[in-house]
Amino acid sequence: MNVSIIGTGHVGLVTGACLAERGHRVLCVDSDERKIRTLRSRKMPIYEPGLERLVSRNVRAKRLDFGGTNSDAVAFGKIVFICVPTPPSPGGGADLSFIESVSRDIARALSDYRLVVEKSTVPVRTGEHVRSVIAKVARKGADFDVASNPEFLREGSAVEDTLRPDRIVFGVETRRAEMVLRDLYRPFKAPVVVTDIKSAELIKHASNSFLAMKISYINAVAAVCEKAGASVTEVARGMGMDPRIGPQFLQAGIGFGGSCFPKDVAAFEAISRDLGYDFGLLREVRRVNAEARDRFLQKVQEELWIVKGKTIAALGLSFKPDTDDVRESVAVAVVQRLAAQGAKVRAYDPQAMEKARPVLDGVALCGSALEAAAGADCALLLTEWKEFREMDLRRLRKAMAHPTLLDGRNVFDPAKMRELGFTYRSVGRP
Ligand code: UGA
Repeated sequence: MNVSIIGTGHVGLVTGACLAERGHRVLCVDSDERKIRTLRSRKMPIYEPGLERLVSRNVRAKRLDFGGTNSDAVAFGKIVFICVPTPPSPGGGADLSFIESVSRDIARALSDYRLVVEKSTVPVRTGEHVRSVIAKVARKGADFDVASNPEFLREGSAVEDTLRPDRIVFGVETRRAEMVLRDLYRPFKAPVVVTDIKSAELIKHASNSFLAMKISYINAVAAVCEKAGASVTEVARGMGMDPRIGPQFLQAGIGFGGSCFPKDVAAFEAISRDLGYDFGLLREVRRVNAEARDRFLQKVQEELWIVKGKTIAALGLSFKPDTDDVRESVAVAVVQRLAAQGAKVRAYDPQAMEKARPVLDGVALCGSALEAAAGADCALLLTEWKEFREMDLRRLRKAMAHPTLLDGRNVFDPAKMRELGFTYRSVGRP
């Protein structure tokens, strides 16, 4: 099938590459010409394991191409995916202006039947607006369907998640739209959930907010564990063996970040309010999340007493491992806060240095964890990269002026760390 993708961000680019990998011909367009130039020269604008190889292979096989206008996208693909950003707006909701302007472009270019699919994360009822904008702007009698096909990929494992999804959701209004999407996704051999468009839109927001709630829940449990002298890792292990709860997303830490959870929880709360329901639970999820970061900063303060003038090594800047994404990264927020208090922060991240540089004024960016730790009064583990899990802790200790390690991701074993001579504190563990 010929498929077009409008917007080559994380979701658009990975979706395009994976659809090509499964045998479709895919054209990806983007209003950012620099990004298209980067992609055409076979470089990746984001770090995502396995993506570069996948893109190269499919470009070589002539199944994947980059460049052109939104109107070219409509001319090429029977299916047109909208994968443009939906950034937060000042009221906490999502700013849908990119979605609207792309819908207008699509409408103006419509001639034969097209299936327009929203893949960006959008509030419920966006599909209705997309349909009415297209109907208003397109020539009379234009033949099209609108559908919602939310994306559940995680950064850092986006290619795997997309090639082998645990479910695919189609929100459709017509049998024809359903059949086109079934044909498209047949090679993925994944379970399909077919719903109306509004329910599909809600599945995405409700799923992300539920996962965020799970993280805030375990972070609140971690706070109680600290007061009681219990271990949140043990509590989570015992809870997670109940299949109704499950072990995933029960890692206590410094809170969730990234371009999705913080924005989506706020947007779900905002759209619920607009619809007449006060979803107070989501407010609490956000409050507990902010508190997790503050509790960690409090520990730094307790260990250092005076933060100003101290040398602090920050290990990790990306919002999670295996990505160079620093959007809404709690690690970056922690570093910024300490730097603002006058600490000399020396930071290192295996992939995210370049993207973090513009937001880390006055922070020394180092070439390795050991370099960051040189002469430090305290080290902070902020992102659980494998490289940090496997680092030589004896050398780390020797490099530091004072061997204090605050582990914001519960990566190390407290007993072993003490054996190695560290003053060690983590989250929700004695
Ligand atoms: C999330 C969802 O997991 C995806 O299903 C969804 O498609 C995506 O948002 C999206 O809406 O596009 P992502 O933001 O890439 O994916 O990352 P996650 O793995 O969900 O992690 C989010 C944050 O939660 C990270 O900061 C991570 O460190 C934190 N986290 C995660 C915890 O603090 N504890 C956990 O147990 C799990």
